[in-house]
Amino acid sequence: MAVLFVAVLVLLLLVLCLSSALLLRWNEVRFSKKKGLPPGTMGWPIFGETTEFLKQGPNFMKNQRARYGSFFKSHILGCPTVVSMDPDVNRYILMNEGKGLVPGYPQSMLDILGKCNIAAVHGSTHKYMRGALLSLISPTMIRHHLLPTIDHFIRTHLCNWDSQIIDIQLKTKEMALLSSLKQIVGPESGSISGAFMPEFFKLVLGTLSLPIDVPGTSYRRGFQARKSIVSILRQLIVKRKESKESHLDMLGYLMNTEESNRYKLSDDEIIDQVITILYSGYETVSTTSMMAIKYLHDHPKVLQQLREEHLAIRARKKPEDPLDMDDLKSMRFTRAVIFETSRLATIVNGVLRKTTQEMEINGELLLFKCNVNFRFYLLFW
Ligand code: HEM
Repeated sequence: MAVLFVAVLVLLLLVLCLSSALLLRWNEVRFSKKKGLPPGTMGWPIFGETTEFLKQGPNFMKNQRARYGSFFKSHILGCPTVVSMDPDVNRYILMNEGKGLVPGYPQSMLDILGKCNIAAVHGSTHKYMRGALLSLISPTMIRHHLLPTIDHFIRTHLCNWDSQIIDIQLKTKEMALLSSLKQIVGPESGSISGAFMPEFFKLVLGTLSLPIDVPGTSYRRGFQARKSIVSILRQLIVKRKESKESHLDMLGYLMNTEESNRYKLSDDEIIDQVITILYSGYETVSTTSMMAIKYLHDHPKVLQQLREEHLAIRARKKPEDPLDMDDLKSMRFTRAVIFETSRLATIVNGVLRKTTQEMEINGELLLFKCNVNFRFYLLFW
């Protein structure tokens, strides 16, 4: 009986191995028939090489480059993709935006961030949304609202760090999210942040997943989290409309229906813009700030010089005085530290573009005809 059981098991394993190999081979052959594609592997049907990509991170790209060169094909995050780590091709593609290439972020990201978010819209709608977002960070807004709010938030956030062991990664993540939330909904951030934060973390995870909508997947959890976040924001918008009070925060500015606001957005568009701001400023700012702290810890002389610059500014002010624009402009050394941190800790390694028509990428450099529905992942390493 035991022998029969082992034999069946071995047979099943053999069938499984054989069918896996056939499935992988079929997927490779399917894509190799398409003309003009660079070398590379496409992994499994539907899943492609997403699991390896998410598990290995940058090493996945480095290994593929070692095998296939700086221009190779793959299948990640639900879409056939051509990865380019070639600076000339990347420059060419970025310089020729609009000529058949548009932002090509994964479907999971577009679904979860909303159909009006800036990465999901093209052409004149993209221009309009961009204008609406840029109006929130005009020099006047920075001087009168953004800077004082950040100053006040950071003082409160840092006030009890003394004589404690701090998890810097956790603290910078909280800092990035809570400070953006404060900019967006002002004092109301206090009452919503408790419910908002865990949902937002799920939303972030969901944007980098395969768009498979079944219970237990990151995509499903991210999508549910989006629903909760939309509901919190919608309630806030309704409350503000009923109260008719004006608010000097980003949501108040986006909801302003007066002539002075050039950009009139619907409630759905406002909600997607708010999610875009929170999402774009979260991982980028938290990781950069965390790395700045690490680099300053590793370079005590730089930390000392930075401290001297800030102590000199504080010496001219009373302890409760906030930093103003002139103080900010005078921070030459601090600016150099920020630039150097951004250079060393490249948070955004690459961008994604999608072809809207069959095209030849940089004819002189590479004669490459790309099928519609292929996506480019330009990496800057
Ligand atoms: C260290 C910080 C940051 C880095 C490294 C960074 C990097 C980038 C990069 C590389 C892009 C271009 C993406 C593409 O072309 O596909 C981009 C776009 C964008 N970023 Fe950031 N970002 C940072 C902080 C922020 C913050 C704090 C916000 C908002 C609060 C923000 C909002 C945006 C928006 C809205 C776009 C889209 C612009 C458009 O499509 O016209 N970013 N960012």
